[in-house]
This record gives sequence, C-alpha cells and structure tokens, in this order.
Amino acid sequence: MSIDFYWRLPTHGCHSSIHRGSYDRGDWSPPGPHNIAPGFGRDQEEDGFAYIDHLAEIAKAAESVGFLGGLIPSFPNTDDPWVISPLLARETKSFRFMIAFQPGFGNPVHTARATASLQRATGGRTLFNIITGGGGPAQLWWGDSFAHDDRYGRTSEWLDVFRGVWSGEGFSYRGRFYQVDGAGLPALLREEEFPELWFSGSSEAALQVASKHADYYLSWLEPFDQLTDKFAKVKERTAALGGEQKCAVRVDLVARPTEEEAWRDIRIGFENVTDATRNQWRGQATDSVGAARQAALRPTEARRYEDLIVAPNLWGGFNLLRGGPALGIVGSYEQCAARLDELIQRGADGFILAGTPHLEEAWRIGEEVLPLLGRNASSLLQAAE
Ligand SMILES: Cc1cc2nc3c(=O)[nH]c(=O)nc-3n(C[C@H](O)[C@H](O)[C@H](O)COP(=O)(O)O)c2cc1C
Repeated sequence: MSIDFYWRLPTHGCHSSIHRGSYDRGDWSPPGPHNIAPGFGRDQEEDGFAYIDHLAEIAKAAESVGFLGGLIPSFPNTDDPWVISPLLARETKSFRFMIAFQPGFGNPVHTARATASLQRATGGRTLFNIITGGGGPAQLWWGDSFAHDDRYGRTSEWLDVFRGVWSGEGFSYRGRFYQVDGAGLPALLREEEFPELWFSGSSEAALQVASKHADYYLSWLEPFDQLTDKFAKVKERTAALGGEQKCAVRVDLVARPTEEEAWRDIRIGFENVTDATRNQWRGQATDSVGAARQAALRPTEARRYEDLIVAPNLWGGFNLLRGGPALGIVGSYEQCAARLDELIQRGADGFILAGTPHLEEAWRIGEEVLPLLGRNASSLLQAAE
C-alpha cells in the first residue's frame, strides 16, 4: 500500500522561525528583520522578489525531497489557491496542487471547466481539499450566511453536479441548491482525469457528505484514539454505501535530531506567545465542530508548555505558534517517524505535513523523517511510553 505525502504551502506568509509569532516572510506584515519576500535592496527599495517566488522555492524544495504535492489553504486573509496553482505548476515538474475550496463559492459547471483546463495545462496535477467553512464572521466575509448543515447540503449537491458535467453531455440536475439543464464538458476537456477529492470536516453532516463523495477523508490531528474513532465512523458509512474510504491527516511537526532539542524549540516559541495571540484564539466565533475539538485542548489557558503535552510526542499548542489547528507532533526524527507510522497503523493512507519555516522544514522532514518511516516503529513507540 502506498502512502501519499503532501506538504503545506503557506498562503498567508510564513514565520522565519517557530520561535517567533510574526509572519516575517511575506508582505502581510510590515517589513522588518528576516523579511525575505519582498526582499529589500539598496535604499530599502523592493528587490523584485515577490511572495510567489518564495512559495515556488517551497514547492520546489518539497517536490525534490519526495512530497507528491502541496495543500494550498484558502482563508479570507490568504492569496488565492486558483491563482497560485498554475503559477507554481510552471515552476515544478510533477508537484500536485491541492486547492482548498468551498464549493458554494463557485458555479459547479464553470468550476468543472476551469478544473479540466487546469488539468489539461498541468498534466493532471490538480486535486481538491473540499472545505465547507467554519461559519461566523469569516463565512460572512465571503457573503455566505448559510447555516452549518445547509452548507454541507450545498457542498453535496455541488459535488453531484461537478461530477455529473464531467461525466457526459446532456447532464441535467434538479436539486435544492442547483438546477442544471443539458450541461457537459466539451469532449477534449472531459478526457482529463477527474480530480481527487480530499474532504475536511468533523461534524455529522461532514462525515455523511464525505462518505458519499470523498476519495480521502481528511482530518486535523486529534488524540489518536479520538481520530481512530472518527476514521472508523466515516469508513463504516462509506462501506454502507458500497465504497471504501481512505483517510488522511493534516499535521505540523517539530522534528529535531533529539527530543530535547524539539521540546526546547517548543518552549522558546511558547514563551514568546503574546496575550494578543491568546486572546485572538479565545475569541474565535465559529460553528466548526472540528475547530471545537481542537479548542477542547484549551491551548489558550496553559501557562507552561508542558501543560499542553497530551500524549508522548503530541503537543496541543501549535495554533499559538503559527495559527491553524492546535495539535501536532514533537520529537526526534525517529519519534516523529514512529508517530506517523502509528497513524498509518490506525488507518491513515495519506498525510499533509507542515513545519515552520515551511521552506527549511520541507527539506528537513523530507530528508530526515520520511526515510525513517516503517523502520523499527513499534520498538521506538514502546521506548517513548
Ligand atoms: C485539514 C483541514 C483543512 C482546512 N482548511 C481550510 C481552509 O483552507 N479554509 C477554510 O476556510 N477552512 C478550512 N478548514 C475548515 C473547513 O472549512 C471545515 O469544513 C469547517 O471547519 C467545518 O467543519 P465541521 O464539519 O467540523 O463543523 C479545514 C479543515 C481541515 C480539517
């Protein structure tokens, strides 16, 4: 069985170190020390090195150490994955682009045609992380006031239409959210491979829609037993529909030559977390069940980094250091590899890995952690417990 490894591409800037909370790579923050995109030359003039050039460095690094592709997140404060993907495709050879996309935000017929064109232009390197949004102000920012379960209903119908128009001419559909008459991609585009669908969301509604449409059910890392239960649920539902569900995990790593070095970096990063960052995470208004499961680790209330160690090598304060989900993996190269092995044993068929800074950590994790997978995993896990 082959396991797919993807890297994450940071579409809202990057930190030059896990020790620092500021996005000092990229032009979202005021320019300061460490800033490399844009870079500054003589007289503080921009040197023409744009953030897309930095993303290309990350994509090339990840490609060269063996990652199959990259997840390109989409939030109100990020660059747009649909624009980033074709630009990076011209800079890479086989790297695949996992576009994070909320289906409700685009007409399904038009999106099918755009996707097929992208497939045609890139040699079939497009796939999706189908997301359905977390409600609250971020959802309204997009002009979307649908309630949680209605959003999933819309996602499901959208995927019906998206697949339907790809499959043939004269496709018609009468749903609650979409009505289409006689649609279908032109023959040349229809020949392109239908994109793989990775599907995110932890609610009941999400599991139900995933079991119908997803190639991979994708979850943020959670305590391992909890994650195993969730995988079992979605696999069961898919089996009831006559399918077989693959599962995947999106997880940040702090991997160092020794465990001591890894925890030292976590400690320094944690000690630099500001009250403003804690308050920002406390005040998040969202209807996302997945986000609530991360918040249950209570990262904002911890005063010592040790309070957030939820299991050997699992730390629940990553959102304080770099945004995103709370739980991630911390340890020596061997321990990180062993934890990934354990996740594989518990049903993971794919991963989206990340580390800060994304450029250097793509190299490190690709060179130091991935080659250790599958070796001595069970004995190392015993040693850590
Ligand atoms: C791995 C993963 C990646 C996600 N990426 C994004 C993203 O890029 N943009 C976004 O708006 N939401 C993202 N989300 C959140 C999704 O919109 C998710 O569907 C939403 O939180 C609703 O989840 P629920 O079913 O758990 O309530 C992501 C979720 C997961 C698990």
